[in-house]
Amino acid sequence: MTFAIVVGSQWGDEGKGKVVDYYAAQADIVVRFCGGANAGHTIVSGGKKFAFHHLPSGVLYPEKINIIGNGVVLEPKKFFEELAQLDAVGIKPNIKISPRTHLVMPYHIALDGAEEGKKGALAAGTTKRGIGPCYSDKAARFGIRVGELLQPALFREKLHTMHTLKVKLLKDVYGVDFLQSEDEIHSLYSAYAKKLAPFVTETGDILSDALAKKKKVLFEGAQATMLDIDHGMYPFGTSSNTSAGGACTGSGIGPTAIDEVVGVVKVYTSRVGSGPLPTEIDDDVAKFIRDKGGEYGTTTGRPRRIGWLDLPTLRYAAQVNGLTGLAFTRLDTLSGVQKVMVCTHYELDGKKLLTPPANYTDIARCKPIYQAFAGWDDVGDDKWHECARNGFKSLSKEAQAYLKFVSEEVGVPIYLVGVGPGREDTVVLKSIFGRK
Ligand code: GDP
Ligand code: IMO
Ligand code: MG
Repeated sequence: MTFAIVVGSQWGDEGKGKVVDYYAAQADIVVRFCGGANAGHTIVSGGKKFAFHHLPSGVLYPEKINIIGNGVVLEPKKFFEELAQLDAVGIKPNIKISPRTHLVMPYHIALDGAEEGKKGALAAGTTKRGIGPCYSDKAARFGIRVGELLQPALFREKLHTMHTLKVKLLKDVYGVDFLQSEDEIHSLYSAYAKKLAPFVTETGDILSDALAKKKKVLFEGAQATMLDIDHGMYPFGTSSNTSAGGACTGSGIGPTAIDEVVGVVKVYTSRVGSGPLPTEIDDDVAKFIRDKGGEYGTTTGRPRRIGWLDLPTLRYAAQVNGLTGLAFTRLDTLSGVQKVMVCTHYELDGKKLLTPPANYTDIARCKPIYQAFAGWDDVGDDKWHECARNGFKSLSKEAQAYLKFVSEEVGVPIYLVGVGPGREDTVVLKSIFGRK
């Protein structure tokens, strides 16, 4: 039995989708516990590329249960679009949705754009998927949950109250005319209700049963530690608890159930959206990585900002998440860079900092202090596949030294190393489910 959480250790897009898909082969259940359609998780399986925003990354295995937990905010339109895309290629996943999951409503999406427009330099550069406004309503107890959508009279009443309020808010505060009428949204969401009903069940019970039957469960984080509403770089992150604690609150199991917490670490830094990024580089190396790695947002298509690996952030991620293992990704993408830099600590006001300060204003003033490492060669796809088969020792000495240094500094062992986007491009050092 293992209950294992997979989380992003940096600013998102570390390769969580790939890592979850890899582990899912051995799991019984995969659970998404936070975020919504702001996520973009890419999986390459059998040469085919899939990008999931809403669906858990275990959906390519139809025999596994895939849960959308209560911590997620569900945008039905996106959910059904993704299901239709899978259906078109003959994949019919087994999905369960918690009745406690909150719904993203059209006015949340309108508010996301309106609020960002008024935030000036504090705008996080959101994905405009209505995430912040939906979680705001959840916390203010204004939200509408999936289970409530399934009760027609209750849904009508809540929608009436909220629609009236949001039209006024958008107009009077933000100067935006919200033109979708209450009736229009009512009929759209009533149609979703019919289609969603078969998926809705007490997902907490499924997990509790899985615990009792000693099953293997994988909790799939979205976003990342530095985007967490509490522990991330406030206010430039997202609106949910994206770190490991969110797996419990966002799915309905207790912390004592968790055996492993795997932090996904891209071997350099990338970031979509705004806010300070201490190790950011904007030179030929950044261009090389962005072009070679196709570093453009999966959800928005925006070019990702690039930086060197940032150890203060990773130490902090190890602490906040209680990481038990590291899953490195994109060793192949960074190959070919002759001198690879790692930020070992920051300097701020004459002090050495091993983890980031709390305020973004202080993070912006931190000076990253680097240690240089010899880079490793790009050995080409065939050789990377061979490394995946032959194990860690088959990687170049330089790559091994780099990864071991990071693991030792962070104090967390290496579980796997990604050397390509495919499921099979994975060098495994330690399994989480008892076998490699
Ligand atoms: P996520 O949001 O954390 O799931 O990551 P994204 O899917 O947004 O972005 C990660 C990108 O890196 C995707 O295009 C993956 O296919 C790709 N990827 C993941 N691991 C590796 C790896 O080890 N090597 C290479 N070349 N690509 C990888
Ligand atoms: P995955 O799961 C990278 C960023 C946005 C923005 C901030 C808030 O693919 O790693 P939001 O729309 O959530 O209100 O935006 O968070 N962001 C992500 N960046 N990967 C993600 O998800 C992200 N989800 C949100 O760019 O700065
Ligand atoms: Mg992504």
